Amino acid sequence: MHGPDGQHFKEHIMSNVTVIGAQWGDEGKGKIVDWLASRADIVVRFQGGHNAGHTLVVGDQTYKLSLLPSGLVRGKMGVIGNGVVVDPEALLAEIDRVTAQGLEVTPRTLRIAENVPLILPVHGAIDRAREAARGDRKIGTTGRGIGPAYEDKVARRAIRLCDLAEPETLDWKLDELLLHHNTLLAGLGSETFTKDALLAHLNALAPRVLPFMDTVWELLDDSSRAGRKILFEGAQAVMLDVDHGTYPFVTSSNTIAANAATGSGVGPGTVGFVLGIAKAYSTRVGEGPFPSELHDEMGRTLGERGHEFGTVTGRPRRCGWFDAMLVRRAVRVGGVNGLALTKLDVLDGIPELRICTGYELDGEEIRHFPSAPAAQARVKPVYETLEGWSGTTYGARSWADLPAQAIKYVRRIEELVEAPVTLLSTSPERDDTILMRDPFEN
Ligand code: GDP
Ligand code: IMO
Ligand code: MG
Repeated sequence: MHGPDGQHFKEHIMSNVTVIGAQWGDEGKGKIVDWLASRADIVVRFQGGHNAGHTLVVGDQTYKLSLLPSGLVRGKMGVIGNGVVVDPEALLAEIDRVTAQGLEVTPRTLRIAENVPLILPVHGAIDRAREAARGDRKIGTTGRGIGPAYEDKVARRAIRLCDLAEPETLDWKLDELLLHHNTLLAGLGSETFTKDALLAHLNALAPRVLPFMDTVWELLDDSSRAGRKILFEGAQAVMLDVDHGTYPFVTSSNTIAANAATGSGVGPGTVGFVLGIAKAYSTRVGEGPFPSELHDEMGRTLGERGHEFGTVTGRPRRCGWFDAMLVRRAVRVGGVNGLALTKLDVLDGIPELRICTGYELDGEEIRHFPSAPAAQARVKPVYETLEGWSGTTYGARSWADLPAQAIKYVRRIEELVEAPVTLLSTSPERDDTILMRDPFEN
């Protein structure tokens, strides 16, 4: 391509992939990102923080990552973009933990955006005090200060990574931040913080965190121009998105693919193929509406067979049938081009399966999940029943190994959510994955 003055612009091929959750989180994004990372050069986190918990099983090793991009397990460069909120203490603890497991996490393999906002101890304190004050109306947050840190970013009082290198900036920023938060903490009857304590906290961490700091937008742009493949790793999921999720029972960031661009400093075209991850059933941690939730023996069976306990908080996950209405919505607002369906094996041997194919509100059929919370809580699912399979999908590595009924179940989901299933996962193990279409080949 040539510009007006005859200058040559290099056209870079957009063969990137963005992975997002299509339900309420814990769909198996970490496993899929780890698997796809073999085909990528760089793995980028663009939103969320250490509220995420991604479990990767590789042979006899299990890695639990919260803040670190899952590609690090494959030795791929990991990038933490500006859209993430970073708790430097949690970051260093995680680096120490995975380093002890044999991974290399050094400035050679990990870069963090200089403009990333930090989570300070005061944010966790506010998060927990507010949840306690909400009582029965609590959100069920992870208590890790995610919401308050994002609030500070938008309120223009966040301490950012680059501030750790400027003592004069830290000084006045902490004054401003504490004026706000101590007022709130005192009002909630909680302990307040002193500037000296926060300064000491940050100054102790700075020398270990600052070496990872980089100009991420430039690194990603240069890499794209050099033809490197980028894999964007979403955390949480569309139904937890602050705009498109089941508000107010959501997290405080945009989890949809569009935010991969804003959250790392690249153009929207760089996002590439959007792969939505969905479980073959549904789960949710924390409070909020869940139309297809099961409170019976079947719900407990799914929880036990799927080992449905939160990676971060250890809370049991609520379980229910696959909700095609919600996943179709996630496909539409999330810009999903293909789905990775995970945990199909958990349904092995269940004689009869159900899929939520419609909603009723006060006895009337409705087209969409409503936006207002009281109406959301009253939504009733309409189900379609499908025959289960007696054979096993556990560990299957090819389409041909799947029982006919399991294939029917997958095909029905494709029809209902109006997106192709391009990947299938049949166990926690990295290689128990069936590829139908390579998302990087688009
Ligand atoms: P993420 O937050 O989306 O990365 O998902 P989590 O790691 O929090 O939760 C998914 C859990 O399911 C993890 O324990 C995975 O090891 C496990 N898992 C992922 N894919 C499969 C699968 O296909 N089958 C089974 N049985 N477990 C899976
Ligand atoms: P991954 O990336 C599942 C939920 C919390 C709570 C709500 C708000 O592993 O899929 P927050 O601490 O973010 O303010 O909590 O969001 N939540 C998740 N649920 N998986 C996650 O991440 C989650 N991250 C946050 O349980 O309901
Ligand atoms: Mg998780």
